[in-house]
Order: sequence, then structure tokens, then C-alpha cells
Amino acid sequence: MLPSSQEFFYYRDGTLFCENLELASLAEKHGTPAYVYSQGTILHNFDRLRETLAQLPALICYSVKANSHLRILNLLRQAGAGFDVVSGGELMRALKTGAAPETVVFSGVGKTQDEMDAGLAAGILMFNVESAGELALVESRACALKKVGRISIRVNPDVEADTHPYISTGQRIHKFGVPKEEASELYRRAASSPHLKIQGVACHIGSQILDVEPFWKALDEILAIARQLAAEGITLSVLDLGGGFGIPYRGESPLDVQRLAHGLTERLRKSSMKLVVEPGRALVGNAGVLLTRVLYVKRNHRKNFVVVDAGMNDLMRPALYGSYHEIISVREHSAERIQADVVGPICESGDFFAHDRNLPSVQPGELLAVLTTGAYGFVLSSNYNTRPRPAEILVNGAQAELIRAREKIEELMTAEESGGSG
Ligand code: LLP
Repeated sequence: MLPSSQEFFYYRDGTLFCENLELASLAEKHGTPAYVYSQGTILHNFDRLRETLAQLPALICYSVKANSHLRILNLLRQAGAGFDVVSGGELMRALKTGAAPETVVFSGVGKTQDEMDAGLAAGILMFNVESAGELALVESRACALKKVGRISIRVNPDVEADTHPYISTGQRIHKFGVPKEEASELYRRAASSPHLKIQGVACHIGSQILDVEPFWKALDEILAIARQLAAEGITLSVLDLGGGFGIPYRGESPLDVQRLAHGLTERLRKSSMKLVVEPGRALVGNAGVLLTRVLYVKRNHRKNFVVVDAGMNDLMRPALYGSYHEIISVREHSAERIQADVVGPICESGDFFAHDRNLPSVQPGELLAVLTTGAYGFVLSSNYNTRPRPAEILVNGAQAELIRAREKIEELMTAEESGGSG
């Protein structure tokens, strides 16, 4: 059974399809491991979110970090998305797609001077500033470059989001944002500078959040700050609520974005602020699968292991967060099943995709699909163990395009062989 959110992936005639193509034929042609993305899913996710937010003046800034492939950025830009970037590299990617600078927001707790200069030169919508030091640097760089630094303050609202501790970001103990008590002081400083223009207020309380309540709490905190500032004559025109919209990995209900939108409409009725949201995972997560081939099936003592040709270097999420990904066989199986760990070839016990998973009784040579890996899959991959990073394939209806070839082993050594002269 496929999780219902994966409607563009389905079985037909006993084999797994992505849109109108058999995944087995893609594996045959391009080898494994390979990420396969469904274009239809990405556009469907974007359109649905846009429709849901249609009552609000909203800009959807796709969070590039979730999957930064230029083709995917291009698709989303053409569909009407802006971008949320967190580095000079992501900014360059966004601009390469032809994104209008005024649809780009720059987040991140440690922006460098070079990154600020690049954002100022491009004329982005805003830097989401996370400290007094950062505010001072944007101001001085804007002055030096004779630009106006457009800013929002990212407020840390001290709100708990029920998610993995590594991706929860909105509490006092976290490094992110400016404590809510200190935000007004920074706004006053920004308001008095001729080199800065205040755009609005931002927050991002974490990722993979399934419940709307933490969003309400964060929103109440930042609206209170906006009201207090308005009383002092400082008006905010943008409210950036961040991303974090959770999706199902094992049958959970996704974040109820409809409910979020209703609540936002109500709460923002009296304000003239434009809404920015920064979803990443919710747009691309269920659009991707990692295709991998079974190398061996072995039994150690009483435990079964399915050893596959993808490793933690290709998909880090299980090793890093203990995250759950559905794993299905590309060939539809009859009833016989085994209980097994699905593991990669890397010399670490953290190199696993599933523990004690109930799986079809697969044989060496068979293909498996690790589901819901379109977000934070390829982007977190590495060359650990001198393993080339996997191929990426984009499927659109009956067309498949290799959008990134599998790396070649020799390529991995070129920078070392050329040393400092490279
Ligand atoms: N905006 C900001 C400021 C962020 O830091 C993030 C994610 C997002 C938006 C997008 O969040 P999303 O809508 O995708 O949840 N590697 C982890 C997720 C890290 C998220 C970091 N920040 C994972 O694989 O679960």
C-alpha cells in the first residue's frame, strides 16, 4: 500500500509507476541508487497551497534548502513561487532561475558579509535578521554599497513545536531569532537608520509540524509586537510565518493548512500586512522516491538484513533523525513477508533505512523505493566512503529526464589531484 499522499506513484500490472513511467525501466536505464521526482506532484502541491491561501495576500517563498535542484526551482518559479534562501549559494540558485529579487527572502542565523553584499546587490525583498550584530552589519554594508537594506526581524517567540529536537527552532533555548522581549529595541534602531527599511516581522518555529496550535501561539506573539510597534509609529508590511508544514511519512495527518489559512485570515483581517510563508518539505517531500537495488539478503543470528546499494550518504534522514520512511518493493509481491532491517553498505550501524520492518520477501537484484524522500534527500547527501552521489531523474507524464547524472568516482578526486592549483 502506498501512503495516500503519493497519488502520482502507484502500482499497475504488478509494478510501481511514477506518473506514466515504470520505475523499473528508469532503474534499468540510469542505474541505482537514484532519486526520482514527479513533476506533477510538485505542481499539484504548489497549486493546492496557493488555492488554500487564496483569501490572503500571500507570497509562497519555497524554502530552497529542501531540494535545491535548478529544475525544481524553475518549475516552482514558473508556477508563481518566490524563494527562501539561507546562503549565498542558494541565493545564486534562485537568481539563476530568473526569480524576481523582490520575491526572495534571506534567512539564516549566520549570514556572512559576502552573502549580505550579494543580497543587497540583488535587491532582495528582505533579510530576516537574527541578531543585533547582524542588523549592524546589514546597515554598514548597505551604507558602503549605497543600497537600502530591507529587513525583517526574525523573532524567537518561545513556542514549543512537537517535532524532532534537531528541527525545532522557536524556543528560548534555540540559537534562532531575536528574543521577543528584545525585538522592539532592534526595530527602533532600524527605524532610525537611513540605510535600512523595515519590511516586517518573521518567525520560523520548526520543521515537520503537524499541529496548527504552535503556529497560533507564534502568530499571537508576533502580532503583539507588531501592535506595539504600530503604536510607536513603526509600521510593518510583511508577516513571514516561516515554513515547517508537516507531511505524512507513516500515515499521520498532514498539517491542516486549510485551518491554518482560515485562522490567518481571521487574525490578519484588521491588518494590512502581506503574508509570506516558506514551505519546503510540503511542496517536494512526497514528490520524490529513492530507488535502490537489493544487494544481499542475510540473516545474522535471528535477525534479517536486506542490504541495499543506497547508503546513509545518499539519504541521511534515518541516520540523523531516526526518521521513518515507507519502503516498498517496485515489483508487487504476493503475501509472503519478512521482518528485516534495511541497511546500506556503509561501515556504520547508523547506516540504516529501517529497523525490524515488515517487508515483502525480496530477493537480491530486486528494486526497492524509499518513499517521501523529495525533501532533504539529495541535498543532504555526501561522498562519504568515496561514494558518488546518486542520479536524479524528473518525470513528467510519460517523459523522464536525467536532471543530474550520477557522479563518477574519478570526479570525486579531481579537486584533490589538482591541489591548490585547481
Ligand atoms: N524557513 C526556515 C527559516 C527554515 O529554517 C526552514 C527549514 C524552512 C523555512 C523550511 O521548513 P520546511 O517547510 O521544509 O519544514 N533536514 C531536516 C529539516 C531541516 C529544516 C531546516 N529549516 C529534515 O530532513 O527533516
